[in-house]
Amino acid sequence: MTVYTTNGSTRPSDVGIQGIEVYFPRRYVDQAELEQFDGVSTGKYTIGLGQSKMAFSDDREDIASFCLTAVQSFMEKYQIDYKDIGRLEVGTETIVDKSKSTKTVLMQLFRESGNYAVEGVDTTNACYGGTSALFNAIHWVESSHWDGRLALVVAADIAVYAKGNARPSGGAGAVVMLVGPNAPLVMEAGLRSTYMDHLYDFYKPDLSSEFPEVDGPLSVVSYVKSVDACYRGFLKNVERVDGIKQASLENAADYMIFHSPYTKQVVKGLARMGYVDYTLQPDAPQFETAQAFREVSEEQSYTLKDIEKTFVGLTKSIYTKKVNPSLLAARDIGNSYCASLYFGLASLVSEVPSEQLAGRRIAAFSYGSGSAASMFSFRVKGSTAQMAKNLSLRDRLDSRTKVAPDAFDHIMSLRESTHQLRDYKPVGALESLFPGTYYLENIDSKFRREYKRVESN
Ligand code: ACO
Repeated sequence: MTVYTTNGSTRPSDVGIQGIEVYFPRRYVDQAELEQFDGVSTGKYTIGLGQSKMAFSDDREDIASFCLTAVQSFMEKYQIDYKDIGRLEVGTETIVDKSKSTKTVLMQLFRESGNYAVEGVDTTNACYGGTSALFNAIHWVESSHWDGRLALVVAADIAVYAKGNARPSGGAGAVVMLVGPNAPLVMEAGLRSTYMDHLYDFYKPDLSSEFPEVDGPLSVVSYVKSVDACYRGFLKNVERVDGIKQASLENAADYMIFHSPYTKQVVKGLARMGYVDYTLQPDAPQFETAQAFREVSEEQSYTLKDIEKTFVGLTKSIYTKKVNPSLLAARDIGNSYCASLYFGLASLVSEVPSEQLAGRRIAAFSYGSGSAASMFSFRVKGSTAQMAKNLSLRDRLDSRTKVAPDAFDHIMSLRESTHQLRDYKPVGALESLFPGTYYLENIDSKFRREYKRVESN
C-alpha cells in the first residue's frame, strides 16, 4: 500500500480509513441452544435480543492478545511496514493493568523495525473508547503535528457478564483501522454531533472481577436518549453542510452503522430516529399513524412501548436497506463493546459491493455507557473492494467452531476463577485458536504477561 504524504500541500486532505481488519475468537455458543440451557422462553435471545451466536474465549486470550493478533494480521494482509506507523491508539474498556496501557504491549510488534517513535496510548469510556481513539488519530493526521506517517487505531473488548439475564448480551472482538489521507472512507467534516452525561448504567468499579455492574433498563434508555440528542444535532449539521431544508432518515445518510449491544437495540435506535423525524415534521403524510403521540412529553417518550413499536414499524424499510447489512458480525459475534461499531463498518463494506457504496454517506452512532455518544459520518470516496477481500468476513465467521452451552458455561467459570491471578499458567487448548492467534503463555509472580503465537497458515 502507498504511504501518502502531503503532496506539497500544507494539510492532507480526505483523511479517513484506508484499511480495516477484524479479529474474533474461533469458538461461539449458539443463542438458541443457550436459551434452552438457561431455561428461558424460546426466542428470548434470538428474537428478543436479535442475537444468533456469541463469541467467547477461554483463559488463553486477554485484551492484549486480541490486539496483538489483530494488528499483526492487519500488517500482514495490507503489507504495511511497522516503520510507517507514527501513531497507535487503542480504545478498550477491558483493563488488566491500572497503569500500563495495552498500546505499550503492542510496541513489542514494532521492535524488529526499530520504530519506537509511535505516539498514542489507551482511551477508555465503556464502548466509546474506540471512537475517541479514532477521532484522536484523525485529528493527528489533520494537525500541524502530523509527520507524514500513518496511524493505527485498535478498538477491542472482551464482553463478559455474570450469570443471569445480561450474559447472552456478551461477545468479544477487535477491529484495527489504518488512518491516513486520501482514504476510501473519508471522515466528513462539520457533521459530528455529541451527547455526554453522568450516569451509572454500566460501569466496572470492582477491579477484581471481569464483570460490570449493570443497570440494564437504565442503559437501554440512555442509549435511546443519546441517539435522540446526537441525531437532532447531526440533522442540523447535515442541513447546514448539504444546504438542504429538512434533513431526515430519507436524505441524511445512505447507510447507517450503530454500536450494537445486541441487534434489537439497533432496531430501537433507528426507530428513535424515526420518532425524531416525526417530532420535526408531525404533519408529514408518512406519520399519519403516529398522531396519538403529539401530547407525549419527552421524558415519557423514552419508555412508551407504543412509540417504540410504531416507529419500529415505520422505519422497517429503512432498516432493511440502510442498516441491516452492517449487522452481520454483531448478530454472529455479540457485543464487542469498543469494537462493535467498527464491526458494523467492516460488515457493511463486506456485504455491500464497492460500486454500490461509491459516493455514499455512512452515518455512525457510537454509544458508551456512563455516558458518551457521538454521531458522525464517512463519505465513500474510493474503492472498498480490497477491504472486503481482506476481511473475507462471511467465510471467517462460517469457519468457527460451535461449543455446547455447558462447555461455554464451564469456560466462563474458568475465566472467572483465574481472573487476575499471578503465577498462573493458562490451561486452554491451543487447538481452539485460529492459526496466527497470539495467546497468553504465562503470568509470572509479578503479574508480567508473556504471549506466544499459534503458527499462521
Ligand atoms: N420471544 C421473543 N421475544 C422475547 C421472548 C420470547 N420468548 N422473551 C422475551 N422477549 C423479549 C422481551 O419482550 C424484550 O423485548 P423488548 O426489549 O422489546 O421489550 C426482550 O426480549 C428482552 O427481554 P427482557 O425480559 O427485557 O430481557 P432482560 O431484562 O432479561 O435483559 C437486558 C435484557 C436488560 C438488555 C440485558 O441483556 C442486559 O442487561 N444487557 C447488558 C446491558 C446492555 O447491553 N445495554 C445496552 C446498551 S449499553 C451497552 O452497550 C453495554
